[in-house]
Amino acid sequence: MSWPKIKEQAREKLRGICRLCPNCDGRSCAGEVTGIGGVGTGSSFINNYEALRKIHLNLDALHSVTDPSLKTRLFGHSLAFPILGAAVAGCKINFQGRMNEDEFCLAQVQGAHEAGTVALTGDAGHAEVFAAGIKAAKAVGGASIPIIKPREVADIVARIREAEEAGAIAVGIDIDAAGLVNMRLLGQPVGPLSLAELKSVCRSTELPVIIKGVMTPKAALLAYEAGARAVVVSNHGGRALDHTPGTATVLPEIAQAVRGRLAVMADGGVRSGVDVLKFLSLGADVVLVGRPLVWAVFGGGVEGVKTLYTKLAEELKTAMILTGCPNPSQAGKHLLAIS
Ligand SMILES: Cc1cc2nc3c(=O)[nH]c(=O)nc-3n(C[C@H](O)[C@H](O)[C@H](O)COP(=O)(O)O)c2cc1C
Repeated sequence: MSWPKIKEQAREKLRGICRLCPNCDGRSCAGEVTGIGGVGTGSSFINNYEALRKIHLNLDALHSVTDPSLKTRLFGHSLAFPILGAAVAGCKINFQGRMNEDEFCLAQVQGAHEAGTVALTGDAGHAEVFAAGIKAAKAVGGASIPIIKPREVADIVARIREAEEAGAIAVGIDIDAAGLVNMRLLGQPVGPLSLAELKSVCRSTELPVIIKGVMTPKAALLAYEAGARAVVVSNHGGRALDHTPGTATVLPEIAQAVRGRLAVMADGGVRSGVDVLKFLSLGADVVLVGRPLVWAVFGGGVEGVKTLYTKLAEELKTAMILTGCPNPSQAGKHLLAIS
């Protein structure tokens, strides 16, 4: 099934939830959290999109890079391309229950696995959300990364045990969900984690721990000090705090602060393979795609997800040929035009 057809079908199924705008920039859905939009004025989501849009690439076709390799490694695992699925979850609260959480999550994880990469999975106040990620991980032999809300340490560790049993390749905590009111309403408080708490979480497992929701070099360095193996430069797709900068704006200084010590992942507003190359050039090792996955699953299930990854990878490869980038690790500032 073609990508336009998948989007057409998703538009039908997501009527009243997501408009599938030609430019998915956070303007039409501002304030729609719960839902698919950005929190408050929508400025954090909009800034993600705008910050990426303002980055320009140097077109250069005088070189010998005719067949770039997209392969990359994360925590010793081989990925077909440097693109992973961001955790997008919560069918009941965000998608009016139009799809069952297990089905929604499995399509993301299996689609990613069959395409040669891995998906992150989510957590929420409804127990079925985290459970769906664990079931999906088991279904693909563990090739996924459960992300746990910043709960009390004992509750985080209990969920890490579940991820370990499922054979997950890593686990993460979306620290930027520390202010989620609906978690508290559901009797599952979340909040900021101290360095000592983060250290005890990292010490509790052999799995690599990813800290998702890092927007400053200070937070990235604390994640390193705590024993984490990666950070995701992310503002939760603009869903956590209104008026934060776009992730492409803060990525270079964060990447510079922890380069060689932590894997740097980034998300926010990625809609094409060209966007992926921009993030790689700004210092990310791998890039996550979020909202387009929702369209892929609603519009085409596992096949829809595979089609999305194929499209992004093809666009990335073309962009690498047209900038002379032989592989993801060779992307850097030299690919970027100063504007
Ligand atoms: C509907 C929805 C649900 C999400 N659920 C989670 C979640 O459970 N855990 C998490 O870490 N991030 C969650 N996120 C944030 C994404 O992982 C990611 O950071 C963000 O969507 C990236 O921006 P993009 O959608 O513009 O690509 C969610 C995002 C959306 C849109």
